[in-house]
Amino acid sequence: MRTQVAIIGSGPSGLLLGQLLSRAGIDNVILDRASRAHILERVRAGLLEEGTVGLIEQCGGASRLHAEALTHDGISLAFDGSNHRIDLHALTGKRVTVYGQTELTRDLMDHRQAAGGQSVYEAADVLPNDIDGDRPHVTYRSGGVTARLDCDFVAGCDGFHGVSRACVPPSALTTYERVYPFGWLGILADVPPADRELIYAYHPRGFALCTMRSPQRSRYYIQCGLDDGSLFLVGDPAHIVPPTGAKGLNLAASDVHYLISALREFYAEGSRAGIDAYSARALSRVWKAVRFSWSMTLMLHQFPENGAFGRRMQEAELAYLVGSRAASAALAENYVGLPY
Ligand code: FAD
Ligand code: DHB
Repeated sequence: MRTQVAIIGSGPSGLLLGQLLSRAGIDNVILDRASRAHILERVRAGLLEEGTVGLIEQCGGASRLHAEALTHDGISLAFDGSNHRIDLHALTGKRVTVYGQTELTRDLMDHRQAAGGQSVYEAADVLPNDIDGDRPHVTYRSGGVTARLDCDFVAGCDGFHGVSRACVPPSALTTYERVYPFGWLGILADVPPADRELIYAYHPRGFALCTMRSPQRSRYYIQCGLDDGSLFLVGDPAHIVPPTGAKGLNLAASDVHYLISALREFYAEGSRAGIDAYSARALSRVWKAVRFSWSMTLMLHQFPENGAFGRRMQEAELAYLVGSRAASAALAENYVGLPY
């Protein structure tokens, strides 16, 4: 099979791109490893910017969105017991649109089908080939048969865990990463929303977001631990530090300290208290060691961006450290290991 643009992934980016290409007279084929039904069962985003709505309009697929979506002029930030409204429209002249990603995906899929666009679902082992040569093509298996899609370009629209990212040669890839130590638990409920607009809540027990899909259907998210389940991360899979503070192995050991006491408690007393608290207990010590490893690393290494000022700061910090009993004691306390 041959096309101009092979699109891997039938999420919002793949479907939007496919539709806009088709309208520009550029032939394209979408390949997705999941089934159409599976994609339509995924409940994800719900908030569209005006620019996104504009793109959907350009696709010619915005009629249901305009009929059913909710338009909001503001959001609230809730903290300290009250709601503080941010009037987005007064501040920017713009509004936001609440329309479920599931609905948007359905609209784009239906539109593509009606326009005769070609999509292959349940395509296994999708793999871009020869992407830096002159005969790019994508191979995949469909219905047990290996197929080849020749193309001019490949668009990797297959999400964070897709195959496309992995195909970029390491020399061409720069990854900037921040891993957050929590997840979101999402709840879709057939109850009227808590408020007319979205509420982002900051609370000592964690973040919460009250959003919606319609005047009858609410969507809630609450911050939850990544370890809510039966998988415990111990040592490097949970946290990785530069070696300067000599903390990697020692943090792995302190994780074991907390986990073993949690598991003993579970088997001896049937109590999940230690298991539920494992992450918080282990991480409270881990973060202090991350800070220490970071400070030792910053103090002792040459960084290309440091410049003369940065080097002076390092030298002053070192001189202060060795000349001050209090500063030496702080280093020593961390170096020998904070108490469990
Ligand atoms: P995806 O939607 O992930 O689509 C990728 C597609 O590629 C999938 O269909 C997948 O099956 C397919 N695929 C993956 N691997 C392969 C492979 N190897 N071979 C073939 N196909 C493959 N964003 C917002 O802008 N606003 C929000 O309000 C918002 N809320 C969110 C709430 C939640 C709970 C979550 C989880 C996400 C939210 N997001 C939000 C993020 C948003 O859902 C994603 O950024 C968006 O889905 C990205 O679209 P995409 O098309 O790039 O990728
Ligand atoms: C929704 C999700 C978000 O992450 C967000 O910031 C706003 C709305 C939603 O699912 O409606």
